Amino acid sequence: MDSNNTTDVSKEKLPRHIAVIMDGNGRWAKKRSLPRIHGHQVGMDSVRAVISTCARAGIKYLSLYAFSTENWLRPETEVRALMLLLKTFVQKEFNNLHRANIRVLAMGEIERLPKDIYSLVQKVLEKTKDNTGMVLNIAWSYGAREEITRAVSTIANKVARGELDPATIDKQCIAQHLYTADIPDPDLLIRTSGEMRISNFLLWQIAYTELYVTDVLWPDFREEETLRAIAEYETRKRRFGRTDEQISVNA
Ligand code: FPP
Repeated sequence: MDSNNTTDVSKEKLPRHIAVIMDGNGRWAKKRSLPRIHGHQVGMDSVRAVISTCARAGIKYLSLYAFSTENWLRPETEVRALMLLLKTFVQKEFNNLHRANIRVLAMGEIERLPKDIYSLVQKVLEKTKDNTGMVLNIAWSYGAREEITRAVSTIANKVARGELDPATIDKQCIAQHLYTADIPDPDLLIRTSGEMRISNFLLWQIAYTELYVTDVLWPDFREEETLRAIAEYETRKRRFGRTDEQISVNA
């Protein structure tokens, strides 16, 4: 759970990459006797708030878990409503993101998205590809186990075709075959709504990521909460499996 209450962020210790599991939209709506989709709608305002807060704070990479492979199993009406929200987000926010010099990336089985959304996403990726500001990496139809399976299959095919020597398969080689090949591992993973799980998000990449779980539900997670999470991260001592003494010698 989050333990720090300050929102004072130091530029020197900023996480380079923040990943977010946006959870609690349904519970937020239920608490107010509203349909679940209303929670998702208000959650979109949190998406906008977190993107602009991170960009302003100087975060280099922000990964958002928008839709998981498992989310396809939700009731059809909810899936359809979520797709519509995603579409509206891309249509409405595209110009703002581009103007803010944000580069958009997508990870996941995006070809499973409805055709119109798929082509919109492709357009955004293409249009923002030369932007030099924050990288906004959106996970759509994403599952970490699927990602790893896909990487293993690509590597096996390369070996079978004689393009890759099995002796050269190491951690870097595997990382290079993941969706995140071109971006650093997350430094901070935020999960809202208090659930203590990873839910098939970035399993390989979060090996040494600092975790921040807050009870705040996603629709209530805005600028102040984002800064609080960053400030808490900045108090953490990262050891990457080494001892405290080794870290202070190398600091
Ligand atoms: C989890 O809440 C949230 C989702 C499954 C969807 C989150 C997606 C958005 C807010 C849209 C993001 C869009 C972009 C473009 C980044 P839940 O429904 O699991 O809530 P519950 O656990 O309380 O039921």
